[in-house]
Amino acid sequence: MAVGSFIDVPKNLLKEIEHLEQLFTIETKKLKEITDHFVNELEKGLSVEGGSIPMNPTWVMSFPTGYETGTFLALDMGGTNLRVCQITLTDQKSEFDIIQSKYRLPEELKTGEADELWEYIADCLMQFIETHHGDVSKLDKIPLGFTFSYPATQNYIDEGILQRWTKGFDITGVEGHNVVPMFESALSRRGVPIKLSALINDTTGTLIASAYTDPKMKIGCIFGTGCNAAYMEDCGSIPKLAHLNLPPETPMAINCEWGAFDNEHKVLPRTPYDAKIDSDSPRPGQQAFEKMIAGLYLGEIFRLVMVDLHEKDETRIFENQDISKLQRPYSLDSSFLSSIEEDPFENLSETADLFRNQLGISPNSAELELIRRTAELIGTRAARLSACGVAAISKKKGFKECHVGADGSVFNKYPNFKARGAAALREILEWPDKTDPNEEDPIEILAAEDGSGVGAALIAALTLQRVKQGNMHGILHPENFS
Ligand code: BGC
Repeated sequence: MAVGSFIDVPKNLLKEIEHLEQLFTIETKKLKEITDHFVNELEKGLSVEGGSIPMNPTWVMSFPTGYETGTFLALDMGGTNLRVCQITLTDQKSEFDIIQSKYRLPEELKTGEADELWEYIADCLMQFIETHHGDVSKLDKIPLGFTFSYPATQNYIDEGILQRWTKGFDITGVEGHNVVPMFESALSRRGVPIKLSALINDTTGTLIASAYTDPKMKIGCIFGTGCNAAYMEDCGSIPKLAHLNLPPETPMAINCEWGAFDNEHKVLPRTPYDAKIDSDSPRPGQQAFEKMIAGLYLGEIFRLVMVDLHEKDETRIFENQDISKLQRPYSLDSSFLSSIEEDPFENLSETADLFRNQLGISPNSAELELIRRTAELIGTRAARLSACGVAAISKKKGFKECHVGADGSVFNKYPNFKARGAAALREILEWPDKTDPNEEDPIEILAAEDGSGVGAALIAALTLQRVKQGNMHGILHPENFS
């Protein structure tokens, strides 16, 4: 929507809309500049010196063939919920059966004590096993893939030294430590019959699960509470692993942890609202890219804009109204913005209802226009920036044609996210206009298979297969084999 199309919007608000458009719009030239810097930063992360983007080797060293079999548990500890799944990879190529239960991850656990978190997780797992298997005392240990979606250093596939919490988590005593022994001791205290086979990032799971059913999948992405991507690198292009003397063509899935892109603030066009999100977060200076894109932050960016425009003398939106609800940090999530963008009515009556019901605020029609435009700008910026990451991996790897598997609430539910991302990718990679609207893009971002469930089970299966074949890289300590 262009500014000119707003009717009955007073001059001061029009000016403000124009200002917001300047702040949040990212033109093609800038997208390209961000992408080029991104490519360099991906390389830097793989180097011995390292950079902001961790580029974590995951010890996932092959794609599935589609013929993997077995029954596995998967635990998904993302950012919002806990999920436990039992996945059976069947004899039919690329087929699986899944049963699953979701558990709420209580808000207080995210900033509480580590023990409480692990005990809660162990309880959920126990409940799941008792429901589906009955008496646990008679069970052999079931192999589990643990999807732990935070940046973790892995020297082995069943290790994860937490680099830092993201997505608003702030539990003391975990950063810098291997989370696996903490998790396992909670399981053994409870007598939960589980053997952890692999610790997995949700992006790596997404990559592997998507490649299981579609061999064109080359990148796995999450656009959800957090954002990130994984792809398959060859060991010869990972200087920081050179000391292991792995054959150069050996594949190694890399969990980029691209949320940390541009923590130095060299290229991203941050607004004062982004700066405030960062300084008020539990980890200032971290996850600069993620804080402009991910679902956890979109509603908060919007809220900060609204509060600012209420306080500014030039605009004074919602004048003489009680904005105490709006003043509560993180009171709006990204579904609030989705609802605004989805309002089908010309007079934005659903948006007005939303403001009234959730915030106790009654916006006038000009304010409603401003609200809608702000949501569009924030949502569009997120989708366009996301495309820079996909373009950067594709450029780095020389992918001209491939599929990208994407999952997460923002990708799946935020209106127009996919189309806006695809348009930005076209601009960055300079594809000619489509002649046929049904034509596939050379690099197409598609809905992924369930990475944290099926992907985790597949990675557990691939790991057990490697053990059987005696390929113990990343499973045994390097000194224990040659
Ligand atoms: C985490 C990543 C994760 C992403 C999506 C980020 O905050 O650091 O490990 O893949 O969120 O869940």
